[in-house]
Amino acid sequence: MILESKVLDEMLGTKHFPNVYYIGPYKNCNFIVMQMLGRNLGDIRKVLPHKKMSISSSVRIGIQIVEALSLLHTKGWLHRDLKPTNCCLGQDEKRRQVYLVDFGMSRRFRNDDGSNREVRHYCGFRGTTRYCSYRMHDRREQGPVDDLWCLYYTLAELVEGYLPWRDMESVDEMAQAKKIIKHDMIFPSMPSKFSSFDRNLRRLRQHSTPDYVKFQNILASCVKYVDDNAEFEWDILGV
Ligand SMILES: Nc1ncnc2c1ncn2[C@@H]1O[C@H](COP(=O)(O)OP(=O)(O)O)[C@@H](O)[C@H]1O
Ligand SMILES: [Mg+2]
Repeated sequence: MILESKVLDEMLGTKHFPNVYYIGPYKNCNFIVMQMLGRNLGDIRKVLPHKKMSISSSVRIGIQIVEALSLLHTKGWLHRDLKPTNCCLGQDEKRRQVYLVDFGMSRRFRNDDGSNREVRHYCGFRGTTRYCSYRMHDRREQGPVDDLWCLYYTLAELVEGYLPWRDMESVDEMAQAKKIIKHDMIFPSMPSKFSSFDRNLRRLRQHSTPDYVKFQNILASCVKYVDDNAEFEWDILGV
């Protein structure tokens, strides 16, 4: 809660982060009063036909989440639990804008002077096993790259409707699956150009600063045209 309010306070006024109106105690509880958002992407996916989003919507959403992560990382924070239910759309005129929520697992990866924080050799697990990177399964210190892995798996679930390890019960089995399952099996519906997203992710080290624009360009290359003003299919369908 204190951590969450710290992140929200630092991101105040930044695109893709909810506005905060009040942070503080009330009687025996701590409260955060924030901008009312719309539905999260996990709930939206579940009401869509075949429980999946169109490629064009997923691409638009992906480009926005990359931007959100670049803003968060620039301030020295990692989200560490990015997943469909932690991404909401706005309301009304902001219904096509993605917002990140749930900073309870966040962590600073940079010190105030801009230097990187010391790397721990073993880290307690933070995040959600279904979406976390294979590095996280190995309990390695997370960096900006791990938030992008979470985005990669989030997009796979949105666009395909499932992740290959959805029925695996053991965490070890899931970790192994992430190491061996190839991009084409994770994203059977996406144009082959999208495979460079995975290739570029694999090149990044824990402290690397990702080339966010490159990841956005890879996403954009999967559609003819990115039309940010078009209605999403759930608004047209009214679901
Ligand atoms: N500002 C908000 N406006 C509307 N819904 C929100 C807002 N913040 C969170 N939610 C919804 O509440 C759900 C749970 O909130 P979240 O912050 O993710 O907490 P947790 O997952 O730890 O319970 C989110 O998945 C989202 O759908
Ligand atoms: Mg959540």
